[in-house]
Amino acid sequence: MAHLPCYSGWPRWLSSGSCGSRSSRVAAADEAERHDATGPSGTAAPGVSCDAMSPRPKRPAPAAPRTAIGIDVGGTGVKAAVVDLVTGGLASPRLRIKTPQPATPEAVIEAIGGIVDQLGADGHATPGMPAGAGLPGVVKAGRLMTAANIDRSWIGAPAEAMLSARLGRPVRLVNDADAAGLAEATFGAAKGVQGTVLLLTIGTGIGSALFIDGHLLDSTEFGHVTYRGKDAETLVSGAARERRGLGWKKWGGEFSEFMALLERWFWPDLIILGGGVSKEYAKYSRFLTARAPIVTAQYLNTSGIVGAALAAAGVGIAAAVLAREDAPDPGTADPHRADPIDGHASRAAAQAADVAASLVIEDQPTL
Ligand code: BGC
Repeated sequence: MAHLPCYSGWPRWLSSGSCGSRSSRVAAADEAERHDATGPSGTAAPGVSCDAMSPRPKRPAPAAPRTAIGIDVGGTGVKAAVVDLVTGGLASPRLRIKTPQPATPEAVIEAIGGIVDQLGADGHATPGMPAGAGLPGVVKAGRLMTAANIDRSWIGAPAEAMLSARLGRPVRLVNDADAAGLAEATFGAAKGVQGTVLLLTIGTGIGSALFIDGHLLDSTEFGHVTYRGKDAETLVSGAARERRGLGWKKWGGEFSEFMALLERWFWPDLIILGGGVSKEYAKYSRFLTARAPIVTAQYLNTSGIVGAALAAAGVGIAAAVLAREDAPDPGTADPHRADPIDGHASRAAAQAADVAASLVIEDQPTL
């Protein structure tokens, strides 16, 4: 009898995929089948033979999900859609709602709830479909550990559990730039690229995703390295460029210095620029210098949504993120830990009425 690892159930079984190709998704499904063959007990450590456990009837393996909900929480808008995990395209209209202010966990989660309810009411999101949410901060064990461009009350709040309770489905939190990187690495500009790939998203803040031979080193937060004595994104993000009134030439020169810092440390083989400012690449590309080739992201507006959905389903490259995030809760000594999810619920209820009225269908399915 074969010796089988004894994971079972969602999402652990999904953590076995290793690359973003169609064949790897099939591989993930195969692996899932093998894992599932062990039955639902799933209590033995990885690699422990199941032979020693009581035999259970074999039941059909769950298929790797074909679709998942992707949610992108930005400073101005919260966007969501159902994502086709095989093609990387959207399988529903993309819905958008203004980010509530203040952008507390309760308010944002209720806004997300409104959008996802709508996707469900329209028949796009089905019960049990997993959801991933990209947020601007370091994500560890389902909580934000930092919050530069979102309300500080996110830090330490059990956001993944809160969102899962609101949506009534499995939820995965992921850093927004990592989500964009997962989309690019699986379907876009970093697909199949070996070596070190650095994705920088340039918008309100600067996000980063670093891949080494297709493996994501998550939550790198290079936007916060010290540049000219300051937090880099306060000088060279898209918002900073506007605030400082810099022309493209001056900004391009400074952004190149910032990239040079990162190049000195990581020697990327490819740099991908994403985020809102990448759409204006033609205006500043001639002012950028770097050792590595620079390309723009292939996804314009949907990388965060697509990548968050990939993380939720744990397919392809995203499987590694999922495996890491399933690590035990590090046990932060934050004030929210004692605050049960129910404690947030009453505050969330107060936000619900505002949400329904302000939903917008942003566009129809597209890559
Ligand atoms: C946050 C990052 C995020 C980036 C882009 C930064 O301020 O710290 O987590 O990826 O903004 O949203």
